[in-house]
Order: sequence, then C-alpha cells, then structure tokens
Amino acid sequence: MPNSKQQLLDDIKSQIMKDEVCKNLAEQATQLVFGDGNIDAEIVFIGEAPGKNEDIQGIPFVGAAGKFLNEMLETIGMKREDIYITNIVKYRPPNNRDPLPEEKEAFLPYLQAQLDAIQPKMIITLGRHSMNCLLPNLQISQVHGQPKRYKGRVILPLFHPATALYNGAMRQTLIDDFALIPEILKKIN
Ligand code: URA
Repeated sequence: MPNSKQQLLDDIKSQIMKDEVCKNLAEQATQLVFGDGNIDAEIVFIGEAPGKNEDIQGIPFVGAAGKFLNEMLETIGMKREDIYITNIVKYRPPNNRDPLPEEKEAFLPYLQAQLDAIQPKMIITLGRHSMNCLLPNLQISQVHGQPKRYKGRVILPLFHPATALYNGAMRQTLIDDFALIPEILKKIN
C-alpha cells in the first residue's frame, strides 16, 4: 500500500484544520506548515515553530536556520530528501515569539500521530521546546547529544540551529553532536 502513509499524513493535516487547533495563531499566520521531506525517512527532525520564511513558503526550515541545518546534514552525507522535518507548533507565532505551553500541548497529539504514521527509527529534536514536549524535565544543556528512549523510539536531543548560528562554541557543539547521528542510526539498525 504505497500511498497509505501519505494518506494518513494528509488526514492529520486536514484534521488540524478541521479541529481549528490554535485558531488564534492560524488567523495570524499565512498558512499551516505541516512538514516536509521523505515520509519513508529513518529520521524525523522536530523544530519549534515556523518563522517568517516558513510561514510564507509553507515548508519548515527554509530560512537561515534551515540553511545551516542543510550544511550540517551535508557533513554527515545526508540531504534534506533523506529526512522528514516538522515542528511542534505548526503555525508561525506572531513576531516569532516562543510558542506558549498551551500551543505546544494543543499540537502534541497531531505530532504524535505524524510520528506514528512515519514510524521513524530515530527522532531528533531541535532545541528545548520540541525536546521538552516529548521528554519533559530535561535540560538541553545537559542532555544534548545523548540518545534517549521515547515510546519505543530513540530520540536524540540537539541544540536548535538558530541558537548555534551566530555562536561559535555552540555551532561546534552542534556539529559535533550531528556527527553522532550515523553511529546511533547504525546501532539502531
Ligand atoms: N525554526 C524552527 O524551529 N522551525 C522552523 O521551521 C524554522 C525555524
């Protein structure tokens, strides 16, 4: 059934709109930014929320943080086409403010459904917001780069590329953490 996964994802996307999840955000955003990439990927990346460029294009991580993410993928021989990428919150928060706890909570069941549809071997959270949705009470500064278990899947919490973009030390930490991905994936397989 080659199309069933895509159908499931399309249904989840429609359901978000039908359920009017975070109506207030939806009204201020250009569009829903659901997710992008390879639905058969072994790795799903989860960011925070769309920014300006993502809101305009309807695709996650197409701005500066996305370009940096693409560069880091290249360092481990991967391309955007090899992964699936989404955000916890699927509408742009006004002025790129941090997503509110209730917004993250409202989108969580849809993110879970998205993960259940894709069935990745590994989940990579980018930044503390998406990490704490799946792994509450952890500090990103303490656990980045350490694989964790979540509902039978492996999660690797990483710093958000936007945080690392203009911070040399953080940038190197993120590159070093990225280098762990192939090894972890090999172990899972
Ligand atoms: N930052 C995110 O967390 N998500 C995006 O889609 C873009 C920037």
